Amino acid sequence: MSLKENTRIWLPKVRKMALSLPMALLAAMVLVGINETGHMRSQDAVEQMTHGQNTRKAVNLLLQSMLDAETGQRGYLLTGNETYLEPYDKAVASVQTNLDGLRNLFMNSPEDMQEFALLSRQISRKLAEMELSLRLRRQGNEDAWKFILHTDVGKEHMEGIRKHAHELIARSDEHVRLGREQIEQSLMLSRIGIATVTAIGLLAFYMYLRQAQALQSVNLREQALLERERDRLESLVKLRTATLSELANHLQQVREEERGHLARELHDELGALLTAAKLDVARLKSRIDTAATPEVGERLKHLTDTLNSGIALKRRIIEDLRPSSLSNLGLTAAIEILTREYAERAGIEIETSLESVQLPDAAQLTVYRMVQEALTNIGKYAKATKVLVSIHGYPTHVAVQVRDNGSGFDPAAVRPTSHGLSGMRHRVESAGGRLSITSRPGNGTLVSAVLPLQQRPGAADTPLPKPAEA
Ligand SMILES: Nc1ncnc2c1ncn2[C@@H]1O[C@H](COP(=O)(O)OP(=O)(O)OP(=O)(O)O)[C@@H](O)[C@H]1O
Ligand SMILES: [Mg+2]
Repeated sequence: MSLKENTRIWLPKVRKMALSLPMALLAAMVLVGINETGHMRSQDAVEQMTHGQNTRKAVNLLLQSMLDAETGQRGYLLTGNETYLEPYDKAVASVQTNLDGLRNLFMNSPEDMQEFALLSRQISRKLAEMELSLRLRRQGNEDAWKFILHTDVGKEHMEGIRKHAHELIARSDEHVRLGREQIEQSLMLSRIGIATVTAIGLLAFYMYLRQAQALQSVNLREQALLERERDRLESLVKLRTATLSELANHLQQVREEERGHLARELHDELGALLTAAKLDVARLKSRIDTAATPEVGERLKHLTDTLNSGIALKRRIIEDLRPSSLSNLGLTAAIEILTREYAERAGIEIETSLESVQLPDAAQLTVYRMVQEALTNIGKYAKATKVLVSIHGYPTHVAVQVRDNGSGFDPAAVRPTSHGLSGMRHRVESAGGRLSITSRPGNGTLVSAVLPLQQRPGAADTPLPKPAEA
């Protein structure tokens, strides 16, 4: 299954399960809502209950004060003793205070206010009746106050007061009962709410766990697919690199063969032609009297010089195409010749430290070409005054170094279009060796390689040391 297909199958499942977060949020909001509603309702209920209790208390106090006033009034009427009037006055004052208090309590409740108005009227009547009888007693109008006392008016008033007072108390009790019921309802609502929200929370948590699990398995699958894809690409790159490397080797070989063929052709064909021409000139020279015809002698001399230059040029080209010194004299001598000629041509001082080493022919050519390209680069870019070329043999490998004291460069910034250094590396690595280029702008350059003495199949068993780096 490809990465895309895997993602297409799994993503909707993951999205479906992504409901858990909104669910958890919703549950939290519902919980807060239930709590707030319950709190407000409970507060209302508590206020209602407090109101009911205050009403009950005030009505009871009012009744008590009325009884106190009646007791004081009766005491005075029966004894004529003024001391009874003091509790009477106090009770009447208290009645007024309680009436004011109750009026305030019923301000916002029209039904209670109606009942309170009836109570208040009865109290006024009772107070007026008591006040009248006291006044008549003070005036000495015995018959009149006794008459009032003996009628049922006072009793009726008192019963009316009690009736309305009890009605108000019953209403206040009803308020208290309703408040209690409201609180109980709020508590029940809170219980149900908390239980529901807990259940939703647990469900959301369960869904979250499943979501996390699903995400993890999607990630694992993706990772496995990525790893497979990476491995495939890696092996593809390895394969391509091997093919390219083989191709480059082949081209290198073909190039060397071509150069060898060209060198042979030049040597055999052009060399034979030039030698034949030189022999002909020599023959002509011996037959012509150059003293008699100085002009012809001059021409022949010029022809001989031209032929000699041609032969020298042919030798140089052949040498450049395929260093004959390498096959004839060996690596050390070929490098010696190469550096000497280069020093003469470029006017740079070259120091050599060359040990005789036993390398396979292909590796010898690699070393020769490497030194050749390094010297060409020094001539082209380095502006060096001194160059050191060294070849040292070790039990398992050969180390080759070309060091200059020139301008140096940044090896990481080499243009991909230049092939000298990369070709050098390719040659060395094809011969089983390693190459290192160490340089910094202003600090000269060191091209250093190590090559195995023998190119054996098991060469990897004894790894080569790293080439010198500065
Ligand atoms: N000894 C050196 N001193 C200073 N710069 C160098 C030296 N050797 C190489 N370089 C720098 O490294 C670059 C790459 O060198 P390389 O031999 O790969 O390519 P090139 O000489 O420019 O072209 P090519 O060799 O393909 O004809 C050069 O362009 C040069 O800037
Ligand atoms: Mg170059």
